[in-house]
Amino acid sequence: MASVFITYGSTTGNTEYVAESIQRTLEQSGHEVTIEDVADIKVTDLAKAYDLCCLGCSTWGDDEIELQDDFIPVFEEIEGIDLAGKNIACFGCGDSSYEYYCGAVDAIEEACKNAGASVFAESLKIDGDPKAEQADIDAWVKDLIAKLNA
Ligand SMILES: Cc1cc2nc3c(=O)[nH]c(=O)nc-3n(C[C@H](O)[C@H](O)[C@H](O)COP(=O)(O)O)c2cc1C
Repeated sequence: MASVFITYGSTTGNTEYVAESIQRTLEQSGHEVTIEDVADIKVTDLAKAYDLCCLGCSTWGDDEIELQDDFIPVFEEIEGIDLAGKNIACFGCGDSSYEYYCGAVDAIEEACKNAGASVFAESLKIDGDPKAEQADIDAWVKDLIAKLNA
């Protein structure tokens, strides 16, 4: 059994839906999940002794990448902590009609890599309504579970 921390920033509930879907599937597979809205965590929570940390964030802004509001204070401190030896996997909702499709997901993954984290799985990017993309979410979590069980 692995311990997984999920944190997410979500304004209209889409990334929260994905986070809770990931949680449900991991728990059904016997893994232990702690899930927190990013507004309720400190950046140092990312460095705690979990086997995997999943970070979810939607993307905002027009001409430049803007992270979901609640994620910004945590994001700004990521590169100031030590994530060496930590596994991360990023996810988020966006809209591919924008120039920077799911740019927040890439920015968070990059910041975690710069802090020393290892990318455990390719990021999950959801275009539009996540309920319509349930198969993609399920496939991504299935891949995580296979790696956690390996
Ligand atoms: C004003 C505005 C700007 C947005 N900018 C982007 C963007 O730059 N890139 C992107 O992929 N999606 C963009 N989106 C789409 C949102 O990320 C998308 O609606 C997402 O599902 C919201 O997720 P949340 O409910 O978890 O916050 C934008 C949406 C709005 C309303």
